[in-house]
Amino acid sequence: MKVAVLGAAGGIGQALSLLLKTQLPAGCELSLFDIAPVTPGVAVDLSHIPTDVNVKGYSKDYLAPALKDADVVLIPAGVPRKPGMDRADLFNVNAGVVKTLAEEIVQQCPNAMVGIITNPVNTTVAIVAEVFKKAGTYNPKRLFGVTTLDVIRAETFVAEKKGLNPAEITVPVIGGHSGTTILPLLSQVEGVSFSDDEIEQLTHRIQNAGTEVVEAKAGGGSATLSMGQAAARFCLSLVRAMKGENVVEYAYVEGDGEHATFFAQPLKLGKEGVEELLSIGSLSAYEQKALEDMLDTLKGDIQKGVEFVQG
Ligand code: 2OP
Repeated sequence: MKVAVLGAAGGIGQALSLLLKTQLPAGCELSLFDIAPVTPGVAVDLSHIPTDVNVKGYSKDYLAPALKDADVVLIPAGVPRKPGMDRADLFNVNAGVVKTLAEEIVQQCPNAMVGIITNPVNTTVAIVAEVFKKAGTYNPKRLFGVTTLDVIRAETFVAEKKGLNPAEITVPVIGGHSGTTILPLLSQVEGVSFSDDEIEQLTHRIQNAGTEVVEAKAGGGSATLSMGQAAARFCLSLVRAMKGENVVEYAYVEGDGEHATFFAQPLKLGKEGVEELLSIGSLSAYEQKALEDMLDTLKGDIQKGVEFVQG
């Protein structure tokens, strides 16, 4: 199996590539691409780690061989936020980056599973879908916005607040990957109950966790290590599913359109990608209202992506 990381020399890309080098199943190939000239060196560096995962690095004009026949493509390429910026402020630069990469995926590996990390994810996933549609290669079962970071943050913060082991907590997070479109379903956390105040505080913290990191890094970027971990978890789940295991993960996909064209929800993953869209279950009144309130924003974010490609 060949896994390509586009934007592999950046903060997320390097963390992600390290985790994949150490955790992908034996025999996999890890293909690293970034416009930064250091990329082949990142691959050499990783290649000294003794695992049975072969790493190759490509930069500048070598996107095509990096992508050739890839089974999975992960895209963290693009620019990160600075303090005071919203994820949507990244649109002008990142929309073009993602579009260019998607156009090459169509040529080199049209059947790959593609996981989008580049922000604003609510919009960039729609951009990639439109590029694939134009080329006639779109398969909604194979395109994912990676929202795993929202899930792992929710697990961490709930465990912290309740004095529990985060490894034993599961928190569903639905919607999108920006501000109020991130909706943790705290009413569904098994064996834990929350006061109204705790729900308010935790929901707000999970929705603003990306900004918490952006502010703490004070101009030095946004989350890279936790995002690397989240994207690696998603990729490893996907690879396990492609090898025939039964796996459930949350991701932002084109589903049945009940709430918006793209929506983060629980998915049963299989050999062909999304095998089954699972129900988001029953929501508390608070969650139901938050869901209704987010939809205009989410639909607007998606529309922006569609218009970017359709013109
Ligand atoms: C975050 O949530 C970078 O979007 C990423 O921090």
